[in-house]
Amino acid sequence: MITDEALIAAAAGSRMRAYAPYSGFLVGAALLAEDGSVFLGCNVENASYSATCCAERAAFCRAVSEGHRRFCKIAVVGGPAKEPVTRFCMPCGVCRQVMREFCREDFVVLTTDGRQTRRRVLAELLPDSFSADELGGGR
Ligand code: THU
Repeated sequence: MITDEALIAAAAGSRMRAYAPYSGFLVGAALLAEDGSVFLGCNVENASYSATCCAERAAFCRAVSEGHRRFCKIAVVGGPAKEPVTRFCMPCGVCRQVMREFCREDFVVLTTDGRQTRRRVLAELLPDSFSADELGGGR
């Protein structure tokens, strides 16, 4: 199984493919499936701003499109273009809800400020969540 360091490195690599001409804020994500597969994503912005897709959701859409629905961990690396990453980039609220669709509350979210790794579980990032459990289904 891939190490946390390698997953973060994969997210940092994916970040370099971000399409972010409006914000100039590049984000990469690397999503680890339970079978060990890794799916990459980057943010893809749009002139109609609300059509933007975050890196995390790009990774989930890719993984689900390729037949994966069970995940254990995601690494997220983000920051302004042309600068080294110096701050933790935490997933936005919409991405947290998308994570909850496919992940249990012990799903791990890794971020980095370029020096240290921050490790959170989804239950911390989205407490008292609404999920498919409430509708009696999903996944
Ligand atoms: N963004 C992500 O891709 N993931 C996050 O967790 C936070 C924000 C993107 C969306 C937008 O393209 C840019 O960062 C600035 O908000």
